[in-house]
Amino acid sequence: MEIAEIKPLTPREIETELDKYIIGQSQAKRSVAIALRNRWRRQQVPEPLRDEIAPKNIIMIGPTGVGKTEIARRLARLAKSPFLKIEASKFTEVGYVGRDVESMIRDLTHLAVDMVKSEEKEKVEAKAKDLAEDQLLDILLPSPKSEQDAGETSTRERFRQMLRDGKLDDRFVELEVAQRPSSPMIEIFAAAGMEEMQSGIQDMLSGMMPDKRKRRHVKVSEAKKILEQEAAGKLIDMDKVVKKAIARVEQSGIIFLDEIDKVATKGGGTGGPDVSREGVQRDLLPMVEGTSVHTKHGIVVTDHILFIASGAFHVSKPSDLLPELQGRFPIRVELDALTQEDFVRILTEPENALVTQYKALLDTENIELIFDTEAIEEIAKISFEVNERTENIGARRLHTVMEKLVEEVSFEAPDVAPQQIQITAAYVQERLRDIAKDVDLSRFIL
Ligand SMILES: Nc1ncnc2c1ncn2[C@@H]1O[C@H](COP(=O)(O)OP(=O)(O)OP(=O)(O)O)[C@@H](O)[C@H]1O
Ligand SMILES: [Mg+2]
Repeated sequence: MEIAEIKPLTPREIETELDKYIIGQSQAKRSVAIALRNRWRRQQVPEPLRDEIAPKNIIMIGPTGVGKTEIARRLARLAKSPFLKIEASKFTEVGYVGRDVESMIRDLTHLAVDMVKSEEKEKVEAKAKDLAEDQLLDILLPSPKSEQDAGETSTRERFRQMLRDGKLDDRFVELEVAQRPSSPMIEIFAAAGMEEMQSGIQDMLSGMMPDKRKRRHVKVSEAKKILEQEAAGKLIDMDKVVKKAIARVEQSGIIFLDEIDKVATKGGGTGGPDVSREGVQRDLLPMVEGTSVHTKHGIVVTDHILFIASGAFHVSKPSDLLPELQGRFPIRVELDALTQEDFVRILTEPENALVTQYKALLDTENIELIFDTEAIEEIAKISFEVNERTENIGARRLHTVMEKLVEEVSFEAPDVAPQQIQITAAYVQERLRDIAKDVDLSRFIL
């Protein structure tokens, strides 16, 4: 099957990969690593039992800005799985009420179809290029094939070489290109929750219109691209793509349900938003328990999709969720609040660390930013203090603090370049101390 084709990472390898981007939170990393590995293990189990093994869904509990979403995002990339992130609370918002929860499965399926399609396209790329080249040569040298003698073949080969070298790129050719029948544009406005029907009808209508072809006068360089696209389209078997995509969603799809705590109701609410919150949970339940969802591409069974839920659970607790839903999320991991030392590491260690980012940004202006170790410590300290004094937004604070810190350099960079700028602890103090000390000021600025 699909997943087995990719060399599966061991839990330890997954943890190591996550370590490149996320500091600390080792318990959460281990849990998601196990969950991912379990899907591969399940694939190896023989048939009748395999279907019985349900995914071990996870709830990540922890304050804001400590890496919950980041872990899930990085995990999906590692797994090369179709991944969808959705806020559970969205379904309770005005304008969303009534939008069915099933839409997330549809979105995930669309995503997987695109994913498989581009993979297949890559596979046929070389062949499509060859086909397009021959087609283009036919247009450039319209000579009946039967009469081709040796001389003409060599002309053709000469042209082929010129074509490859791009020497013919600026010539114009006449091309027949397919046009998607777009006019008259038929827009169908469907009621909420019926998007699927809407797109179905639109597909049907466009299918009824004849495939119009239009002659176009284009440069060879553009003709190449058009013909390659068309050839690739013909080489790809869309039925196969869809089948593969659905299998991939069913076997390895991951849905990240953010802000699950916002739909948990505390102690049997009475009317109002609580009703809709519980309603959302009831809607979610079949998705998580396993159901069949009709999508544009076919029926998708959700039994083995992995759900990772996350929330701060400040007000509500996981036990405030519907019991059935709790049972479907057997793994609970708590993420730790970040310490000042964590901040220092987050600033410098991840592959996408903020300090690295700012250095690279200013490097484009010929400014070499050098951060003293003490300066980094000072940034971490100030961020931590502001978090404590105002609102704790976790590592997100580093972003606002850093931005404020380099504001002046950022503005003046083009005027002073090339230059080496050393960020010292004193510089950090000078730029940020006053703001950080004043609670009101930092509420607005940091
Ligand atoms: N442990 C960490 N290591 C490295 N970067 C982190 C860590 N925690 C948070 N960050 C960074 O902080 C930002 C916010 O993190 P993230 O989106 O994961 O927060 P969250 O835990 O999902 O919060 P929320 O509950 O508000 O959704 C991201 O840019 C992320 O890279
Ligand atoms: Mg998040």
